[in-house]
Amino acid sequence: MMKKLGLAIVVGSALSGPMPLMAHEPVTPLIAQACAGCHGQSGEGLGAVPRIAGKDRAVFIATWEAFRAGEKPATIMNRIAPGYTESEVAALADYFSALRAEP
Ligand code: HEC
Repeated sequence: MMKKLGLAIVVGSALSGPMPLMAHEPVTPLIAQACAGCHGQSGEGLGAVPRIAGKDRAVFIATWEAFRAGEKPATIMNRIAPGYTESEVAALADYFSALRAEP
């Protein structure tokens, strides 16, 4: 009985409004979720995939455009980059440049 009551309270509070955001648990925008499988949930990098969290915004965009143009050697990003509009790339750059994931 007590267990059931506890669960009801947890579920109730989860549904009752926006949860307070934890500083170490940023809510990843939907567009950036596409990157998480390779770059890590917080852009921290995974194995051979480079870290993108905290990357300078202007450098992020310049790197992206170099991928798009085929000017920067790449195994995969040259195929991903053309699929995003300029404003989407700006949003991704805003998001990842502002992230401060643990190294
Ligand atoms: C399938 C795996 C994969 C996905 C998905 C992916 N990346 Fe990458 N990313 C890589 C790899 C691997 C590299 C290294 C360059 C290469 O080989 O293409 C890279 C490089 C980069 C770089 C350059 C980093 C540097 O410092 O040189 C940026 C910026 C980047 N990715 C951003 C993104 C963003 C933003 C997304 C989501 C829209 C994304 N990537 C999705 C695998 C991925």
